[in-house]
Amino acid sequence: MRFDPSGPLKGTLRAPGDKSMSHRAALFGAMSADPVHVTGYLDAADTRSTLAAVGALGALVEEGAPGTLTIRGPGLRAARDAHIDVGNAGTLMRLLPGLLAGQQGTFTLDGDERIRRRPMGRVADPLAEMGVVIETTEGLPPVRITGTPHTQPISYRLPVASAQVKSCLLFAGMFAEHGVTTSEEPIPTRDHTERMLRRAGVPVDRRPGRVSISPVTRLDLDEIEVPGDFSSAAPFIAAATILQGSSLTLRDISINPTRTGMLAVLERMGARVGLFRRRLAAGEPVADIEVRPAELVATDIEAEIVPTLIDELPLMVLLASFARGTTTIRGAGELRVKESDRIATVVELLNTCGGHVTALPDGFEVLGVPHRLRGGRVDAAGDHRIAMLGAIVGVCSQEGVTVEGADALGVSFPDFADRLAAVVA
Ligand code: S3P
Repeated sequence: MRFDPSGPLKGTLRAPGDKSMSHRAALFGAMSADPVHVTGYLDAADTRSTLAAVGALGALVEEGAPGTLTIRGPGLRAARDAHIDVGNAGTLMRLLPGLLAGQQGTFTLDGDERIRRRPMGRVADPLAEMGVVIETTEGLPPVRITGTPHTQPISYRLPVASAQVKSCLLFAGMFAEHGVTTSEEPIPTRDHTERMLRRAGVPVDRRPGRVSISPVTRLDLDEIEVPGDFSSAAPFIAAATILQGSSLTLRDISINPTRTGMLAVLERMGARVGLFRRRLAAGEPVADIEVRPAELVATDIEAEIVPTLIDELPLMVLLASFARGTTTIRGAGELRVKESDRIATVVELLNTCGGHVTALPDGFEVLGVPHRLRGGRVDAAGDHRIAMLGAIVGVCSQEGVTVEGADALGVSFPDFADRLAAVVA
């Protein structure tokens, strides 16, 4: 797919529904005692995999107007044996075992060739401690799980800062009838699961650095409104910051502070981003985001903030390429086990297009260049966020970018190219 150099981005845009929240909405819908009505659900490959998964476990999913679903059952403990294909969805692969931990049945989880490279030991280890029988394939998918009616409560310090692992533990902790399960995190990660659990009536105790959950017999939720995905808004925020003359508004975007580290870093770099019409949706803060172009200065992004912008780091490398000075990003080794090795794929993409980026074992060093990147032909490496990066490099380049494998966009943002075309002036 070709992305030509563009003038300013102008107008108003809605981002698709939040991917993290959509996965959780489907899982919570399936676990709830009563039907759950969901609006704003992301219609993309990853979150379709989650609907198929809950269907295989016995839920009935009724689709209405675009983004609108009603999910009925099977409830907290009545999932039936199933073989589940998660496709490319890492979040589904890591969260689902927590729910299956408390089911009396045997389940297998597998996915596409890329999911088979994503580490699963990080969820298998704590679940095994909780008494769940879980076998991985040398630490990778496919995974086979036999649940137990009473998981053992544990206190577990996450070896990596991962919301997926934390969420899996919290789900499994709901079935620990004899005590409280605690997840301690080295660095705070996205907290959508904790927020949804509380809304569903589950006792969740949140303290700095740890979160504890008490067992429950049912979840009570009736509706979930999924706001726009900050991670899908982010490519547009980046482009409108870089392209002179831009004036872009992104409507109804989740601004959960555990997700918006990009805004904090952009502020340090001198960007002009404003938040308006703030409100709450499904217990989550939401706002309109207005973006104007700015001259950026380099900064350092440290480990403490990395989880709050983990999926935006490829775009931060692009923004740093347009900033005055040298930007360093550290503590981001997790990027190596995302949909692609994002340290390798980002460096390759940007340097192919005329950037000056050096890979570090756990991040990047980026030298800003005082003009538009040249452009070129790049490969999405089967990774939706790399495809979006290639597209945004293209509109901000001198000669444009051809993205091979741009169909990867379908994982989180199927109509990305159309929405981009609609705001190119
Ligand atoms: C996610 C958590 C993050 C993120 C992923 C979605 C989630 O992964 O990169 O895109 O929905 O919980 P980790 O938990 O592995 O950091």
